[in-house]
Amino acid sequence: MKEEQEIMIEAFDNKKFKLRFIDNIDNKKAIVTHFLHNLQNGIGNHFEEEAFQYLDEIIEFKNDTDNLKLNRNDVVQQIQENIINVPFPTPNNFTFTFIDLFAGIGGFRLALQNNGGKCVFSSEWDKFAQITYKENFGEVPFGDISQETTKSYIPEQFDVLCGGFPCQPFSNAGLKRGFEDTRGTLFFDVVDILNRRVESGNPVSVVFLENVKGLRGHDKGNTLKTIIRTLEELGYTVASQVLNSKNFGIPQNRERLFIVAWRTNLNLTFNFPLGIDQDENLIFHVNELINATNTNVGQILTENPDPKYTISDKLYAGHIRRRKEHKEKGNGFGFSSVNENTQYTSTISARYYKDGSEILIEQEDANPRKLTPREAANLQGYPENFIIPVSDNQAYKQFGNSVSVPVIQTIFQEINNQLL
Ligand SMILES: C[S@@+](CC[C@H](N)C(=O)[O-])C[C@H]1O[C@@H](n2cnc3c(N)ncnc32)[C@H](O)[C@@H]1O
Repeated sequence: MKEEQEIMIEAFDNKKFKLRFIDNIDNKKAIVTHFLHNLQNGIGNHFEEEAFQYLDEIIEFKNDTDNLKLNRNDVVQQIQENIINVPFPTPNNFTFTFIDLFAGIGGFRLALQNNGGKCVFSSEWDKFAQITYKENFGEVPFGDISQETTKSYIPEQFDVLCGGFPCQPFSNAGLKRGFEDTRGTLFFDVVDILNRRVESGNPVSVVFLENVKGLRGHDKGNTLKTIIRTLEELGYTVASQVLNSKNFGIPQNRERLFIVAWRTNLNLTFNFPLGIDQDENLIFHVNELINATNTNVGQILTENPDPKYTISDKLYAGHIRRRKEHKEKGNGFGFSSVNENTQYTSTISARYYKDGSEILIEQEDANPRKLTPREAANLQGYPENFIIPVSDNQAYKQFGNSVSVPVIQTIFQEINNQLL
């Protein structure tokens, strides 16, 4: 094919194409990328029929509108190259398969791929997160996981289900009805997916979930109890643990709750790796990945950041005023400024893009500055070659919402050793 005839997966975004081949739920890019990623392992069959239908649609459209003579082979080859030439391609050799739910920008995927895993299904409905995911992994995630259509694309068999699901109140938590209590929440959808695999005789081996630390105390502890009880009803044994990123070589004070569940009939136990407690100076069950016993913010800073990240006099004055007000009220909250020698920052959240007050970097002879998006990526342990294709605001949201990759990778290494 000539250069101008090249077809990328983005061809499906062409407005005229969309108008001509109208579709209620647009999963076309997800279906085609999932199909091409799974050509060799049999799972591709699951997506094949529709994938070819959509590839034929795009070929017909391109040939008509641009007067071309493309055929299926050419187009499959082109799009396949397009999705393989990414920083974190799907591995050909793997030791287990997983599905990536509430995938965000793929923090779990990165960590599990690094442990020898192959992702066979991903779901994330935010279109900006989907862009970042596609640029880095060559796969477009499916959309809303609560939709039956989305669930129908999940392969019959896979080993691990992972995801950081949003924390929502359960309707009747405390009534001891487990599964039924979770109806209408996204955890219900996780359970629904697991339940279908149990019923079809292909139970998922391991469930690996992440949530905010506050989930433990949510609804007086009933939410977590219901989650555990529901998983137990499905035949899993459950362990949960709050871990802090600062104890895993990451200079960020980020506490998160991790839940690991495995098939009860395996009679196994699971011990979380606890990292290195920097403040207590105690060494817990440590994984070889954690080589930094002491972190500092200097680890994640970049050289010569653009002056646009320095906050304005007005914003800075506002931060100082609020800090004073908070101090007077005795709640001590205010902006948090750090320098390269500070051991760790506070938690980066999805709202960091608003004013950066959670983490400001002190500067000589200038107002403090926000982290750059690359530094936000570093603060979550993302590798240097992770592509950030979105605006700064979207990037802050995405990294704030994400996970500290080395923490996930370390826990999963133990899951691999102890449970798989
Ligand atoms: C806490 S974030 C998880 C981030 C992810 N672990 C990462 O590494 O980037 C939760 C994600 O779930 C997504 N989400 C929420 N409801 C969803 C739904 N019904 N279907 C698919 N994705 C959903 C949100 O857009 C958000 O990106």
